Amino acid sequence: MSKKIKNNVYSVGKVDWELRRFHGDELSTHHGSTYNSYLIKEQKTVLIDTVWAPFSAEFMRELPAEVELSRIDAVVINHAEIDHSGAIVDLMQHLPDVPVYCSHNGVKSLRGHFHKDWNFKPVRTGDRLDIGNGKQLMFIEAPMLHWPDTMFTYLTQDNILFSNDAFGQHLATDKIFADLVDQHSLWKEAIKYYANIIAPWSKLVDSKLRELKSLDLPIDIICPSHGACWRKDIHKIIDAYALWANGYREDRITIAYDSMWGATRAMAEAIAKGIREADSEVVLAVHSLAKSDKNDVMTDIFRSKAFLLGSPSHNKCALASVGALLEELRGLSFQGKKAAAFGSYGWSGEGQVRLNSILKEIGYECVDDGIRNMWQPSDADLARCVEYGRKFALKVQ
Ligand SMILES: Cc1cc2nc3c(=O)[nH]c(=O)nc-3n(C[C@H](O)[C@H](O)[C@H](O)COP(=O)(O)O)c2cc1C
Ligand SMILES: [Fe+2]
Ligand SMILES: [Fe+2]
Repeated sequence: MSKKIKNNVYSVGKVDWELRRFHGDELSTHHGSTYNSYLIKEQKTVLIDTVWAPFSAEFMRELPAEVELSRIDAVVINHAEIDHSGAIVDLMQHLPDVPVYCSHNGVKSLRGHFHKDWNFKPVRTGDRLDIGNGKQLMFIEAPMLHWPDTMFTYLTQDNILFSNDAFGQHLATDKIFADLVDQHSLWKEAIKYYANIIAPWSKLVDSKLRELKSLDLPIDIICPSHGACWRKDIHKIIDAYALWANGYREDRITIAYDSMWGATRAMAEAIAKGIREADSEVVLAVHSLAKSDKNDVMTDIFRSKAFLLGSPSHNKCALASVGALLEELRGLSFQGKKAAAFGSYGWSGEGQVRLNSILKEIGYECVDDGIRNMWQPSDADLARCVEYGRKFALKVQ
């Protein structure tokens, strides 16, 4: 059943209450998600984005209740990733000649995914499509937010920005609007989405926000492709994106480690104790990378002013879980965070040394050489870790 967004604009996508993993198994989605598709019924009828392929049959079953398919004059694909374009193959079987508006890169990625030659109408920023009743769709390219093909579509008069993944949240809700959903879950998912998906492109986010400002388009509603639409809280999410895109940090420190026999874990807890002794205010999170959800760890690191990574030495290296986190940290390239490495070892001690050098190599500022400890820490060793934690807290204050 469709939900009205405003005037003749309806949400016709799918609420996926069940989803717990996204991008294969890469991303946890504790609150499910939605694949938002929007139907505009002016003189022209336009569909913006579709739903993920597994829901294509359901989408095609339900869409005719909203609109006679033969009345659809245009399809807009803001981004070709299959969580949004998945139903296009079934859709286009009913509308083989209908124009498909997308960016120039969108043509390439749609062809790359579906190997079809639909009636593509590639557009650039500023191009407009008249939909009658004095309204137009204006396209705004947004390359790398988060794929080369991504674009936004703006509906004049109704002042709606269809922003695709940007400003989205993996949050299953049938309430449609952000001001109607649980605020804690909403913001938790919005920042997790930014930290884990959008963050690598922060410079482009910043310039896109400036471009939007200079275009001076009145925006009453932002309709992303996942989760709730921003209505009363537009400035909040735009301001949040501006903050997140510019070396975001809160008064937080995150410690993430893995440990085979508990020595590195004991070090982590002693370092945490020292941090707390030196700073009673800072929010501290301690995560075992073997136990915590890696995307939640990443979100905590994104929110932190500083983080510590710990690993024992393992076959002259760090443990794979910590290596994997570093590979993600490299890709996400968070700005303005201080770091350090620690770990236990038995004889040669490469684990912690490797973490240090990778952290530096991928652009994080290490405050010092970190701390290493041979075998299981004694009381004196733990006291040394507590002291290290105290100094670390003061260095990153
Ligand atoms: C399979 C295995 C491989 C290891 N490889 C190394 C190594 O290459 N260099 C080293 O200094 N210690 C090595 N160690 C010793 C551990 O680093 C040491 O036992 C450390 O205290 C374990 O810390 P944890 O309790 O945090 O796992 C290895 C231990 C295991 C079990
Ligand atoms: Fe996407
Ligand atoms: Fe998406």
